[in-house]
Amino acid sequence: MKRIITILAALAFSASAFAQVHITTPTTSLVISADKGKDARYLYYGKRLSDNDLNNLSSSGTSKMNIYPAYGFNCTDEFCLSLTHADGNMSTVLKVEDVQTSQESNSVVTRIVLKDTVYPFYVTVCYRAYQDVDMIETWTEIENKEKKAVMLTRFDSACLPLRVGDTWVSHLNGKWANEARLVEEKLERGILVIQNKDGVRNAQTDHSEVMISLDGKAQENTGRVIGAALCYSGNYQLRFNSPASSYHQFFAGICPDNSHYYLDPKEVFVTPQLALTFSDEGLSGASRNFHRWGRNYKMAHGNTERKILLNSWEGVYFDINEAGMGQMMDDIASMGGELFVMDDGWFGEKYPRLNDKSSLGDWGVDKNKLPGGVAALVRMATEKGIRFGIWIEPEMTNTVSELYEKHPDWIIKAPQRDPVTGRGGSQLVLDMSNPQVQDFVFKVVDDIMSENPGIDYIKWDANMSIQNHGSQYLPKDRQSHLYIEYHRGFAKTCDRIRAKYPDVTIQACASGGGRANWGIMPWFDEFWVSDNTDALQRIYMQWGTSYFFPAIAMASHISAVPNHQTNRVTSLKFRIDVAMSGRLGMEIQPKNMTDREKEICRNAIAEYKKIRPVVQFGDIYRLVSPYEGKNMASLMYCTQDKKQAVFYWWKTETMHGEQFPRVRMAGLDPDKTYTVHELNRIDKNPLKFEGKSFTGRFLMDNGLEIPYTNNADNTFDWSSRVLHLVAE
Ligand code: GLA
Repeated sequence: MKRIITILAALAFSASAFAQVHITTPTTSLVISADKGKDARYLYYGKRLSDNDLNNLSSSGTSKMNIYPAYGFNCTDEFCLSLTHADGNMSTVLKVEDVQTSQESNSVVTRIVLKDTVYPFYVTVCYRAYQDVDMIETWTEIENKEKKAVMLTRFDSACLPLRVGDTWVSHLNGKWANEARLVEEKLERGILVIQNKDGVRNAQTDHSEVMISLDGKAQENTGRVIGAALCYSGNYQLRFNSPASSYHQFFAGICPDNSHYYLDPKEVFVTPQLALTFSDEGLSGASRNFHRWGRNYKMAHGNTERKILLNSWEGVYFDINEAGMGQMMDDIASMGGELFVMDDGWFGEKYPRLNDKSSLGDWGVDKNKLPGGVAALVRMATEKGIRFGIWIEPEMTNTVSELYEKHPDWIIKAPQRDPVTGRGGSQLVLDMSNPQVQDFVFKVVDDIMSENPGIDYIKWDANMSIQNHGSQYLPKDRQSHLYIEYHRGFAKTCDRIRAKYPDVTIQACASGGGRANWGIMPWFDEFWVSDNTDALQRIYMQWGTSYFFPAIAMASHISAVPNHQTNRVTSLKFRIDVAMSGRLGMEIQPKNMTDREKEICRNAIAEYKKIRPVVQFGDIYRLVSPYEGKNMASLMYCTQDKKQAVFYWWKTETMHGEQFPRVRMAGLDPDKTYTVHELNRIDKNPLKFEGKSFTGRFLMDNGLEIPYTNNADNTFDWSSRVLHLVAE
C-alpha cells in the first residue's frame, strides 16, 4: 500500500520512495502521486478530503495528468516545458527524484523535485499552501546542471487537469477605457488561448486570471469553481487544451513567443507563481478567497485603510500651477478628503511638459508652473490638513527630453532601425533590463521621496507597450530575453524602492487598468481600474475586476458630467454610489461644482468613512450581474464577523414600465437582526424600511423591495441605492 504524506505543520522531511502527496489549505486538498523514479501526476484538486477518501482516492478514478509535462516523448500532447539540451537533443523526460516539505510562517511549501532520466537537468515543482486562506501558489524552478546553456522554448508555471463535463471559463477582456469586461464560455474541444504580448501593460486587453466553473455556467453563490491567477506583470499565456479525452488541461505561464531563454549552466529559472483556489460557493466564493489572500499576503498594505483622495487629471489635465493645486487641495480638504494627488504636467525644465509629446524622463519641477517646487505643495497640503501625492511615469521617456538626448542607448529599439514611438507621437520605453536604467528609475523615486519626505502617495504610470523588439543592453545572443529581463529589472527596482520606502502608497496605473495583476501588487497598494470614469461603464468593469481583486485595490473616482470618455450624463448620486463600491476618490475640478454638489460629496465622504472598513476589508457577495441583462446590478460586502454589511443596487438601463427582480442578499448571519439605513439619500422621503430591522434570514430569503427610481428633484434615469446594515 502506498504511504500517504499529509503535510503537517512544523514538519520538514523527505518522502520515502512511494508517496501520495497531500497538500492542504483550510478547506481544500491537492493530491499528487509522486513515486520515486516515476512520473509525478495530479490525482485530485477540490474540497478537502478525509483520510478515508484519501486512502481510496486512486480507486475512485483520477486524472493521472503529469504535473509538469515536458516535450519530446509524447510529442502530440500539450506540455509545460520544451527545451533543447546542450547537445541538441529536444526531448526531456522528467521523473520524481525527491519530495521535500517545509513550514513557512502561515504556509507549508512542498517541493517535488523532478530530474531528467539522462541529463543533469532538474525541474522542481513547488506548492505553497496557506494554512489560513484557501490558496495554493505553484511555480517551478528549472535548473540546468549540464555543461553548456540549454535553450528553453516553453516554461509554464503550472498546469491542471479539469474533468470534462459542463465546464465553463470566465475571463476578462477589454481595451483602453473598457477594461476587464467579463467573457464566459463553455470549454469545447480544441484549444482556447488567453494571452498578452504588450510587454509592459499586461491587463489592458486580456487578464491573466480565470475562473473555471465545474458545474455548468458559473453562478455567483453556488457551484464548484477553481480560480487561477498568474502572478506576473509581463507577457503571459493561458491555454485550455481539450483533446478527445476525459480531461481538459489548463496551462499557465510566461508567453514563450519571441522569448526563448538560454539557461546557463548552474542557473535556475524561476517561473512566476500561479495562484490556485477552489470554492464550492460559486464565483463569489472564489473571489473571497482571492481577496483574503491578496489583502493578507500579496499586496502592499492590504490591511490598512486607503485615504479618500482627489486626483488632478480630469480636473485640469496638463494645466498645472501652484494656485490651481492649492485650490484643489482646499476643495478636497473642505469635503473631508484626506489626500490630494498632482497628476501629469508638473515636470520638465528644458522641455516643459505642456502635453503628452515631451519631457518624460526629466523629473525636475517646471518652475514656471510651480515656483516653490514640490516642497511648497507638500507644505500647503500639510497646512490644509491633508497629504500630498504625485504622478510619475519612470519607465518611459520622449524623443523630446533631456534624458533621451543624454542616453539614447537606454531605450528599447531594434538594431539599425528608428525607434517606434507611442503616445504623443514621441513616447519611448526605457530598457528595464539595463541596470543603469534600473538605477535611474530607482533614483527618480528616491530623489522625489528624499527631497520631499512628506509625500504620501505615488501614482506610477506606464503608457506604452514594447513596440519594437531590441535591447541595446542585452548581448546579441540574448535578445530574446528582453521581455523577461524587462520584468526582472522592474521587480528588482520595485524591491529597492520598497526596501527604502515601505510606507508610501503606490498606485499602479498603465493607461488605466493595464497593470491590474497579482504580479505587481506586492509592491503596489492599488491600481487605476480604467481611464474611463463613466459610472455606468464602471459598473461593468469593476464587476469583472472584483472577480480577482478586492475593493481596497480598485481606485474608483467620482468625476464630472458629461463624462469625459463617454459623454454620458448621470446623477451625482449615481456616480457616488458606484465610486463608493471601490476605493473612493474624486477625479474632477471642484471649482466647477455647485455648493449643493459639494455638500452632497461632503456627506458621501463622511458616509464612506463609516463603511470604509466594510468595503475595503469585507467579503464580497455579488448578487445580480450587470452582464445578465436584467437592467440592474447588485452586490454587497459583509464584515467577516457578519456584524455589518453594505448593499449596492444600481440600474444599468431605464425603460419605462420595466420590472426589476427583487434581490436576495447573501453573506449575512441568518440569526442576526440587521437595522437598515440608506446612505447618500437624496429622496424626499426615507425608504419604507429606513431604520427598520430584519433578520439575516429574511434578507437572504426575500431581500427588500428597492424602489425603481429615486424620488428627488433633478435626478436622472440611472437610479441607485446604497444600504448600510448593522447587526443589533
Ligand atoms: C494615463 C493615465 C491617466 C493620467 C494620464 C496622464 O493615461 O491612465 O490617469 O494619469 O496618463 O498623462
